[in-house]
Amino acid sequence: MNREVPTVPPRPLLVGMIAVLLAAPAAAKPPVYATPAEKAFVDALMAKMTVEEKLGQLNQPAGVGNNTGPAAMTGNEDQIRKGEIGTYLGTQGAVLTCRLQRIAVEQSRLGIPLMFGYDVIHGHRTVFPVPLGESASFDPVEVQHAARVAAIEASAHGIHWTYAPMVDIARDPRWGRVVEGAGEDPYLGSVLAAARVRGFQGDDLRKPDAVLATAKHFVAYGAAEGGRDYDVADISERSLHEVYLPPFKAAVDAGAQSIMAAFNEIAGVPMHAHRPLIEDLLRKEWGWDGLLVSDYTGVMELMPHGIAADRKQAGALGLRAGVDVDMVSQIYVKDLPAEVKAGRVPMAQVDASVRRVLNAKYRLGLFENPYRSCTDDGAHERAMTLTPQHRADARRMAQKSLVLLENDNDVLPLSKSVRTLAVIGPLADHRRAMLGNWAVAGREEDAVTPIEGLKAALGDGTRLVIAKGADIDSQDTSGFAQAVAAAKQADAVVMFLGEHPDMSAEANNRTSLDLPGVQEQLALAVAATGKPVVAVLLNGRPLSIGGLKGKVPAILEAWFPGVEGGHAITDVLFGDVNPSAKLPVTFPHNVGQVPIYYAHKNTGRPPSEQEKYTSKYLDVPWTPLYAFGHGLSYTTFRYDAPVVAKKTLAPSALQQQVSVRVTNTGKREGVEVVQLYVRDDVATVTRPVKQLRGFQRLALAPGESKTVTFDLGFEDLAMYDDRMQRVVEPGTFTVYVGGSSDRTREVAFEVAAQ
Ligand code: BGC
Repeated sequence: MNREVPTVPPRPLLVGMIAVLLAAPAAAKPPVYATPAEKAFVDALMAKMTVEEKLGQLNQPAGVGNNTGPAAMTGNEDQIRKGEIGTYLGTQGAVLTCRLQRIAVEQSRLGIPLMFGYDVIHGHRTVFPVPLGESASFDPVEVQHAARVAAIEASAHGIHWTYAPMVDIARDPRWGRVVEGAGEDPYLGSVLAAARVRGFQGDDLRKPDAVLATAKHFVAYGAAEGGRDYDVADISERSLHEVYLPPFKAAVDAGAQSIMAAFNEIAGVPMHAHRPLIEDLLRKEWGWDGLLVSDYTGVMELMPHGIAADRKQAGALGLRAGVDVDMVSQIYVKDLPAEVKAGRVPMAQVDASVRRVLNAKYRLGLFENPYRSCTDDGAHERAMTLTPQHRADARRMAQKSLVLLENDNDVLPLSKSVRTLAVIGPLADHRRAMLGNWAVAGREEDAVTPIEGLKAALGDGTRLVIAKGADIDSQDTSGFAQAVAAAKQADAVVMFLGEHPDMSAEANNRTSLDLPGVQEQLALAVAATGKPVVAVLLNGRPLSIGGLKGKVPAILEAWFPGVEGGHAITDVLFGDVNPSAKLPVTFPHNVGQVPIYYAHKNTGRPPSEQEKYTSKYLDVPWTPLYAFGHGLSYTTFRYDAPVVAKKTLAPSALQQQVSVRVTNTGKREGVEVVQLYVRDDVATVTRPVKQLRGFQRLALAPGESKTVTFDLGFEDLAMYDDRMQRVVEPGTFTVYVGGSSDRTREVAFEVAAQ
């Protein structure tokens, strides 16, 4: 929406991806931050550095602990003194980081400050919903704020640099890391990537509460074959540019100071050695001058990938590709000095990377104020941790992340005057499941469980009958009888089902998308009592829960909702909050439908009930269980037919406005995420059947109508043609507007020929 005509130059006709990416860009953008003062400072410093000190700046060892106390440092003070460490991974705590910083500043030859990197993924101590959950809010303002809160807390713990946002598009829910990103869609992913970058970095990097953001994992990490983490991404140049790169471009445009390379290869080239994509695309074509960090031992892994025979070669390849910081491998610092001195690794490549590390430190203001917000007594850290305001923010974010998938007979919201409530399922009091995975600094004791949330809201008037029923992942059904008995004595039943938090995120892939263990049978046994049953799901990926449909009347997708999860879920169950979230990723009927996503191609034989020889299955529908964008409310919304401002656009004036009137037809106020999709009906290359190009959260009182207007410009209508040039072709475009990708109303317009 409202984006300007891009300045990307036309691309030459290509035979392969490498060819086009090596083509020199016509106009590289000037780096945003490299001011003359910065350059002069860094030049002067680099002139004093030895080869060892330079390679030391590129070295990032793994952390020495999450210690907030004055723990004795073991191991690498000497390395700091010798200037062999530039940055740290996974080290936090105001007292500890302050102490290490003092060694670097006061006891190393050049006094270059350290920079502390950490995985601040969804909150820090105040854990917010997992990123996939936050993304379901379709609320960039709230998502940006969540990242801001995380930065405020993390920086108070001595952290300068977060390894977030994860902006990998994920269309295979077997892949555990689907939980860490914004889901399947490049447009939503781009909007939220930019929001998160802005939130982490704030409005001024020199402020002590700013942290550098890292867009990761560059690139196509989510395209891993078979949903197996770290596996090959063998994708086309088109899907690279249309699907996987856009969120990185959005992060760069939002000012992201750092990008992390991905573990995967693309078509034979591991990303840690991918000079065409790092040096030529990111740095030259996009004009990005930030810091590129390897993933954990990513440089060393060039050996098992089979493109480096030894550590020296791996280091040379990584550096040549433009990987500036060597996370954990210690190859740059240990194996490259001799290579550089022998002239086998060019000094210019080392200098380019060192400059980027020093630039980052300069931009954070570390040379002037190396201690930033860290204090030797940890007082500031304590004051900024888990504040009531941060908890309130986490609760609001969680409320906005809960997706109401089903609500037959308006079972929800429940009444607070319910006399007996059965609380069933293995996740009802599971503290870790509130935090989810990648809550690195999170603590279980900070989390409010669902049972605690219910107790706090309901008070003494309601009796809770609690029965676990089954474990998360076991075949044991011996608890069913007790669960059914609990349901029978209750006026209503809430079940907490789903995955263990260690069933998603890194290296946690599954070949089944079903509820693990016997949880589905448990839900059906409880539902058979005929009581009003609500299933609340806690999980990190789309689940194939079709078996519950029609049997369990209400289903609420809660993801892993963060420290305030128990309260937020209760707020929605009892109607203090009307759910408004929408699915950022498609839910399949079963794993065999994967990959399944809304922005698919039509094919030459689109699926049809009547025609056998069309693109579909014998055993399940071709449509998903729940479509991208689906999510119910306690009220209902009516969409009038959308209207375009102009029936025809001249190619020289590609500005369109689409308006739609939406009415709240129910009895309570609610927020609807109004979604706009575009289709280029006939083009020189095939186009997706729909592509998200805008969304707005719209608050409506009962009976109220409002008209929402979307602006569409060049980028919203553009595509890469068969020469990979970004063009808008003449012809008709259909615009779809609605509350879900599969429930829309449409209007068409035309782009005239020249
Ligand atoms: C993950 C990254 C993470 C890094 C540092 C790696 O294993 O892939 O996402 O930032 O570790 O913890």
